Amino acid sequence: MAEKKKLLRSLNGETLDVPPIWMMRQAGRYLPEYRATREKAGDFLTLCYTPELAAEVTLQPIRRYGFDAAILFADILLIPDALGAEVGFVKGEGPKLSTITTEADFAKLGDAADIHSKLAPVYETLCILKEELPAETALIGFAGAPWTVATYMIAGHGTPDQGAAHKLKDENRALFEQLMLRLTAATIEYLSVQIEAGAEVVKLFDSWAGSLKGADFAAYSLSPMRAITRALHARYPHVPVIGFPRGTTPENYVNFAKSSGVQAVAIDETLDADWAAAELQPLTCVQGNLASSHMVTGGQPLVDEVRRIRETFSKGPHIFNLGHGITPDADPENVALMIETLRETA
Ligand code: CP3
Repeated sequence: MAEKKKLLRSLNGETLDVPPIWMMRQAGRYLPEYRATREKAGDFLTLCYTPELAAEVTLQPIRRYGFDAAILFADILLIPDALGAEVGFVKGEGPKLSTITTEADFAKLGDAADIHSKLAPVYETLCILKEELPAETALIGFAGAPWTVATYMIAGHGTPDQGAAHKLKDENRALFEQLMLRLTAATIEYLSVQIEAGAEVVKLFDSWAGSLKGADFAAYSLSPMRAITRALHARYPHVPVIGFPRGTTPENYVNFAKSSGVQAVAIDETLDADWAAAELQPLTCVQGNLASSHMVTGGQPLVDEVRRIRETFSKGPHIFNLGHGITPDADPENVALMIETLRETA
């Protein structure tokens, strides 16, 4: 049967008149219904690990806006949690984890193969979503890429420059590489079961790829994402992978598109759309890249930008998205305006 889901058609290399659209962090604090469910759950991790509530917040933006894809509600820090890294989310402060800076810290982590009992509720969320999503809506699973996850595990919290992770990489490369290998293996395990449970596409978020300079980008962003993509394709050849090496250089984006093995490259808003259409889109499907600030400011500039990005990418496979996650101060009306503008006949 010919594929009907628009997201899967774009990932298969088709150029569509109107590209599919979804939005990073589409289930989130800008939505009053998310805030209500979040309140009911108590803390953020409880929300992630309660399948009925996690499925509910995943479905909220689909009901409200009719996006072409739903992204599993979870977090990239569930893998460290499942490996035993004592993850917590402190309101207003972001994530807090026990740190990994010595061999003794690393020795306390569990094996990649042992993550599944802790993550079972996430797989259950996917099973519920598979039943409840509209027939035309694709279901996206995800994980953080090893480098980005490692930056939180090493520092114990988010950092503006990923300084602690760079320090460990430069001072104890053997330990850093052991951690990267553990995360790579755990991510393959995790995404495999997400696919078994119903994810039709998976996305790897390397949100801090931009701080890997020179040879480090190939070694610690591209190479682990390629290893994960290859392992998944060996098991599930028809499941597309979207890679997001956020903030890296145009040259690295091209190398990533050529050799990571992914079916789509997600681009952040700092990348010029004309450049990406000319240099990346001939190599792969491109996802992006409306600046998320337009979801706060709206108006004619938003309408103009949606039309410009749609037009710029109209000659090849494209998935419309923001360049990064929608922020809590966004106006839900602007999301509706973005979708309406994208879907208007030009
Ligand atoms: O996109 C979606 O709607 C799916 C769910 C999703 C979340 N986080 C939910 C979430 C996804 C795909 C993520 C990915 C994620 N998580 C990334 C990579 C993408 C990116 O944004 O760069 C990173 C770096 C994280 C780690 C993380 N999670 C941080 C640093 C924080 C705190 C900062 C913040 O935005 O509050 C989170 C919490 C988080 N993850 C929230 C949501 C909706 C907000 C928590 C809340 O409701 O209080």
